[in-house]
Amino acid sequence: TSSQIRCVTCTAPVNIAVIKYWGKTDEKRILPTNPSLSVTLGQDELRAKTSVAVSSRFTEDRMWLNGIEQSVNSPRVQNVLKEIRRRAHKRKSGENKDDLGLAHHVHIVSENNFPTAAGLASSAAGYACLVYALSKLFEVNGEISDIARQGSGSACRSLYGGYVLWKMASKDDGSDSHAVQVQPESHWPQMRALILVVSDQKKHVGSTEGMQTTVQTSELMETRFKLVERRTEDIIKAINDRDFPTFAKITMQESNQLHAVCLDTYPPIFYMTDTSRLIVRLVHAINDILGKVKVAYTFDAGPNACLYLLEEDVPRVLSLVRHFFPASKDAGNSSFVTGLKFDEIE
Ligand code: PMV
Repeated sequence: TSSQIRCVTCTAPVNIAVIKYWGKTDEKRILPTNPSLSVTLGQDELRAKTSVAVSSRFTEDRMWLNGIEQSVNSPRVQNVLKEIRRRAHKRKSGENKDDLGLAHHVHIVSENNFPTAAGLASSAAGYACLVYALSKLFEVNGEISDIARQGSGSACRSLYGGYVLWKMASKDDGSDSHAVQVQPESHWPQMRALILVVSDQKKHVGSTEGMQTTVQTSELMETRFKLVERRTEDIIKAINDRDFPTFAKITMQESNQLHAVCLDTYPPIFYMTDTSRLIVRLVHAINDILGKVKVAYTFDAGPNACLYLLEEDVPRVLSLVRHFFPASKDAGNSSFVTGLKFDEIE
């Protein structure tokens, strides 16, 4: 009956970009200035877990993140809820909409198993998980990565496993700016990600505000826009060919360019710390000693490093990292099992 609670729980992993999204052409609809490409980490590693419930007994929409109640009135949460309800209504027209409880309020409970807002793509996993759970609850099928995009841009990429491209909009209404899987994780089973947690503090400038200021003030962005589409094509080729040295070099150059445009932002934005820079030097030293590019670093809007490398190199790279950073915590040794899981309780 309608007084029952219907509930869906799902998990979604973090994705870490190798071609970075940093800038919007449309703030409201979250349309990016350039394509971006990421790798979705393992399902059991860094992930968000979200339950969404609907019932006639609920008197308002409510949301808890890591046990603390948050306002559901943020424009992004509202965009997501509105769009899911709109699509569910459209789909159910003519049928009995009450079955789904579309007229009722929802409760959202989400938790991350890693630091939130510390540049570890927590919002990406969080919004991907929320949109996926809501789509199951309200039986919305088809492309939903464009809904996740309206929660947090990078979230659209966490809806797919493996290597994922977020396309720029080519239509005026932006409706075709969604994520596509370039290759599944099984294409390159040896790929691993090591996350080095430099700090679990919240970042000092959020990505929304940061990228807005960069687009407005950095003159280097013009150069970046000229380069980035070519780089995206090149890294897709490297992924298709399983060419690790090329994949790694582009990944590092991209990370460096993101942090260069952040430094060129006025006032400048510093996400990397001295420890982050030591990791960069260590990675280059390892690659020099081995005479081949065996490991790549990438940093997002925070000081934590994500290292990409092949399985066979994990033991020696990890022992070198632990030798130079004895106190370091590594969050996960991603086994690269991907895909979204969900279960439904009625
Ligand atoms: O999706 P947002 O608004 O949290 O932006 C994420 C931006 C970066 O993580 C720095 C880059 C990326 O492509 O994920």
